[in-house]
Amino acid sequence: MALTARRAELLEELAASLRATHPGLTIHCLPCDLASETERAALPGRCAALGFTPDLLINNAGLGEYGTFHEADWPRLSQVLAVNITALTHLTHLFVPLLKTHRASGILNVSSLAGETPIPDFAVYAASKAYVTRLTEALRIEFRPFGIEVTALCPGPSPTAFGQTAQRPGEHLPTAEFARKSPAHVVSAGLRALAAGRPDAFPGAIVWWTSRLLRLLPAPFLRLILSRRPRQARPLSP
Ligand SMILES: NC(=O)c1ccc[n+]([C@@H]2O[C@H](COP(=O)([O-])OP(=O)(O)OC[C@H]3O[C@@H](n4cnc5c(N)ncnc54)[C@H](OP(=O)(O)O)[C@@H]3O)[C@@H](O)[C@H]2O)c1
Repeated sequence: MALTARRAELLEELAASLRATHPGLTIHCLPCDLASETERAALPGRCAALGFTPDLLINNAGLGEYGTFHEADWPRLSQVLAVNITALTHLTHLFVPLLKTHRASGILNVSSLAGETPIPDFAVYAASKAYVTRLTEALRIEFRPFGIEVTALCPGPSPTAFGQTAQRPGEHLPTAEFARKSPAHVVSAGLRALAAGRPDAFPGAIVWWTSRLLRLLPAPFLRLILSRRPRQARPLSP
């Protein structure tokens, strides 16, 4: 198994705790800034140098940016697009040749319930996850002949560092606490869906029913609901 993210010390901590609970597991830590095309492109070679040919790619890294679009910092929005969309697409492209060498393999793309609807004040994040869910649907058909299962994991709220990262200073990301599921619950729902060959997983009954409702609601009704924004826009500063 190989783990990647930017903070090497956190990767090592995670690897140590996984080794403690699964002593037989070989874990490689490959620190990488996935927003960098050069660093991403080096990952398959780094795996090969370790003699490691993955049979499962989990595209989990992602971040949100909460607040009005016109007040957002471009570098932050650019980072959301780079990690949520470009890195996920590029990593999939880079690792498909390795996944194809196995008789059966898989890709788990971590999307979001937010990908099921446009979200004012979370517009870029929600749109980035709509991309992930749609890409996953298409690629699962393209990759079927290669024995590669592809599943979108679409969680609702889960207590991680996500909210803190997505908030701007002085802002608060509203979350539906009643729909919260633990990271362990979310991960196991995703892995079960992938193993069962399902196109997506919406962990928890509330999240699942919300996703069905969002797919069935007539667009004018959805627009009416969306216009009741929890966060009111401030006028543009001069
Ligand atoms: N938590 C929720 O409520 C929720 C709901 C729906 C969907 N999701 C999705 O779940 C996924 C995981 O998020 P999380 O909830 O676990 O949030 P998190 O605790 O903030 O974790 C985000 C992870 O992405 C990594 N990452 C971010 N930018 C990166 C970069 N440039 N290069 C490499 N790694 C990067 C971070 O590691 P480093 O900072 O060390 O790089 C961290 O490991 C995301 O795709 C998110 O959109 C979360």
